[in-house]
Amino acid sequence: MKIPDNITISADLAADLEAFFFQKSFSKIAVIVDANTKKHCLPMVEKALPKHVLIEIESGEEHKNLHSCEKIWQVLTSHSFDRRALVVNLGGGVIGDMGGFCAATFKRGIEFINIPTTLLAQVDASIGGKLGIDFQGFKNHIGLFQNPLHVFIWKHFFETLPKAELRSGYAEVIKHCLISDVVMYGEIVQMPLEKQDFSTLTRHSIAIKNKVVLDDPEELGVRKILNFGHTVGHAVESFFLKQPQQKLLHGEAIAVGMICEAFLSTEKLGLDAEKRDKITDHLLQIYPCRSINKSDIAKVALLAGQDKKNELGTIYCSLLRDIGDCTYNINTVVGEIEASIEYYNKVLVK
Ligand SMILES: NC(=O)c1ccc[n+]([C@@H]2O[C@H](COP(=O)([O-])OP(=O)(O)OC[C@H]3O[C@@H](n4cnc5c(N)ncnc54)[C@H](O)[C@@H]3O)[C@@H](O)[C@H]2O)c1
Ligand SMILES: [Zn+2]
Repeated sequence: MKIPDNITISADLAADLEAFFFQKSFSKIAVIVDANTKKHCLPMVEKALPKHVLIEIESGEEHKNLHSCEKIWQVLTSHSFDRRALVVNLGGGVIGDMGGFCAATFKRGIEFINIPTTLLAQVDASIGGKLGIDFQGFKNHIGLFQNPLHVFIWKHFFETLPKAELRSGYAEVIKHCLISDVVMYGEIVQMPLEKQDFSTLTRHSIAIKNKVVLDDPEELGVRKILNFGHTVGHAVESFFLKQPQQKLLHGEAIAVGMICEAFLSTEKLGLDAEKRDKITDHLLQIYPCRSINKSDIAKVALLAGQDKKNELGTIYCSLLRDIGDCTYNINTVVGEIEASIEYYNKVLVK
């Protein structure tokens, strides 16, 4: 599978960045970081970056908002950035989505490149052109589609990434295998996360996401298969978001969602029950167990019904016909979502 020309999976990031900046010319350059990527990632690339203005944003999803954008636009304006300037996003999905959004809207759009520093950002957020910020409690509520000029992928950023963040991104890697590559799925289940070959995995995931996105850039059809695990997963994520002590990372919630949706795949599309059990066992080995109280199941199921991807009260799921074969727009009702969460609770206590 093909990696697009604007993505470099780098063995020597400094050399690749130097070559990129040697070939291109920009009037000014801004580098956007958060506190963690400033500390851990900037020192690894700083020498390879031309003279630039550094913009630091506080880290975390709660800062992916208009206030941070204003700060970014303010700095670009005060340094007289023009339309031949460049923004460099050095960070996870928060910096990539928000820095890209700011660049794509500043003076009707200036170029930006992504140097994603989390596994989630490398295999998911920096591919596909979705940019945006959260607004008044709604995730990714304001945004647009725009591709970066270039994306540089480098596995050495994972050396400082907290284990839980690596594991969170890994859920999207597992998802990419489940929706479209049974052979690769067979390989990754045989090895613990720490022993995986991340160069191979990121290349594989990027190629899958890129192919799906090219076939359907605006998510009118086949791109929906990327939502496998996300109908129930997003509901679980939103539910625990309201309980700060119990917050789940995105990938941890998607792991729960994939277990529930593997169950739905068997119920509704006839996914072999043994394969459902294999998917369940594999995910339970990796991700922390978090049961959902019986009294909360209906609330979580209701949240799944409120997902912005649904229409007219029908819950649309992307489900597996088989491992490596996903289909979309499967009509599902709230009661079935509840049954899938009950299944998840049941397998947890086994
Ligand atoms: N645009 C898309 O298609 C798309 C797809 C999936 C997710 N997203 C978005 O991505 C965001 C989540 O991305 P994320 O998981 O990368 O979160 P993140 O950007 O918040 O990064 C997670 C944490 O890791 C820290 N960090 C980043 N790189 C590090 C490194 N190398 N060493 C040490 N610490 C490091 C960050 O400071 C942060 O605290 C969400 O806002 C989500 O909406 C977008
Ligand atoms: Zn996801």
